[in-house]
Amino acid sequence: MCKVTVKVKGLIFSTVLMFAYCTGHKNDENGSLKKKMGIPDYIPDSVYSDTANLFSREKAELGRYLFYDKRLSVNNTKSCASCHAPQFSFTDSYRRSVGAFGDFTRHNSPPLVNLVFNNYFTYTDSAIHAPETQINNPMFGIKPVEMGWRGNENEILERIRKDSLYCKLFAKAYPDEGVRITLKNLQYSITTFRKTLISFSSRYDAYMAGNTYAFGENEKKGMQLFESSELKCNLCHSGYNFNRPQLRQAPYFTIGFSGDISQDTLKYKVPTLRNLAFTSPYLNDGSVESLDEVIRLFSKGGMAPNRHQYVSGFTLNLEQRKNLVCFLLSLSDSVFITKPQFQDPWAIK
Ligand code: HEC
Ligand code: HEC
Repeated sequence: MCKVTVKVKGLIFSTVLMFAYCTGHKNDENGSLKKKMGIPDYIPDSVYSDTANLFSREKAELGRYLFYDKRLSVNNTKSCASCHAPQFSFTDSYRRSVGAFGDFTRHNSPPLVNLVFNNYFTYTDSAIHAPETQINNPMFGIKPVEMGWRGNENEILERIRKDSLYCKLFAKAYPDEGVRITLKNLQYSITTFRKTLISFSSRYDAYMAGNTYAFGENEKKGMQLFESSELKCNLCHSGYNFNRPQLRQAPYFTIGFSGDISQDTLKYKVPTLRNLAFTSPYLNDGSVESLDEVIRLFSKGGMAPNRHQYVSGFTLNLEQRKNLVCFLLSLSDSVFITKPQFQDPWAIK
């Protein structure tokens, strides 16, 4: 159990101030922290100063321990990382994931990359706009059970409260609070860790930053195709993350070619195209193994009668398809998947 020191206002006021000053806790939300974390200047500071869940390094570090902890599922079998592992850009390489009781999830595990830019989460639910809301899905969801928190909240929190390492980590992350190990603090720490999962070291990023040698002829031709009026890829896949439509609209479209359901009429969120080299299989049902196959589906056009007008098909020869794949692969960042500060802290001794 944690020894809780409740701070009485006034009495140890100066100590509190001193602590905040020494640890820099109060200043962590500003741009200098962004620099220390190697986040490029063009990413808005505002991302890290969301007052509802103020960013701090201490929260992010605590969140990392929680993200990799299987005790966060009812039967100690699944952590977030079980389905979102760093070597796969935080996906799991399965077509669909397996929850704590062995049930398949409805969809393929999506990559967790540059989520700070996203206003939409999940494949089909356009009403979820904050990671702090989305996190209830894997924890409390029952269709299927992923982590199994529903009805077991106190039991799981008790496990965490009994761990002396967590007592220390929560005290660092929430120094001003009396009762620290709460559901809210736990969730906010994990989402804070997620905000650090920033990937901007791909060859594409180097090319855009002015390193013309980062791209060969294949990538350049592939990029032209990607942006061409015939293929229209960039009308849906644009922005830092290639997941934002150019017209200001919700990023959900019917494209109608999920392999399992040949006439899938549902709308799905435009996925990021970053780190595709590590995230196969593709599409919401994980039905497609290769990027060449995805491109062939796009070239045939969507099969659903209500498919979006942008996915009406086009013709590419083999060489053009290869170039397009080269361009897509140039968006992959191998520094990201091996970054020490993103790895399992329980495994590092
Ligand atoms: C059993 C596997 C599994 C576990 C455990 C799991 N996830 Fe997921 N996660 C998924 C799947 C599958 C989806 C896609 C859900 C959907 O849209 O249907 C997803 C979606 C997400 C998304 C939305 C990403 C986007 O771009 O839309 C985030 C963020 C996320 N998970 C974070 C987490 C966190 C944090 C945890 C731990 C608290 C966690 N997940 C636990 C499988 C899992
Ligand atoms: C109408 C908007 C739209 C257009 C145009 C479009 N896409 Fe997509 N793309 C999507 C949506 C939505 C999905 C998710 C479909 C699913 O999960 O079943 C997707 C999925 C993908 C995927 C799979 C990613 C993954 O992680 O599963 C790739 C790769 C891709 N698109 C590349 C392209 C390329 C290349 C083009 C141009 C030829 C293109 N897209 C054109 C909306 C679009």
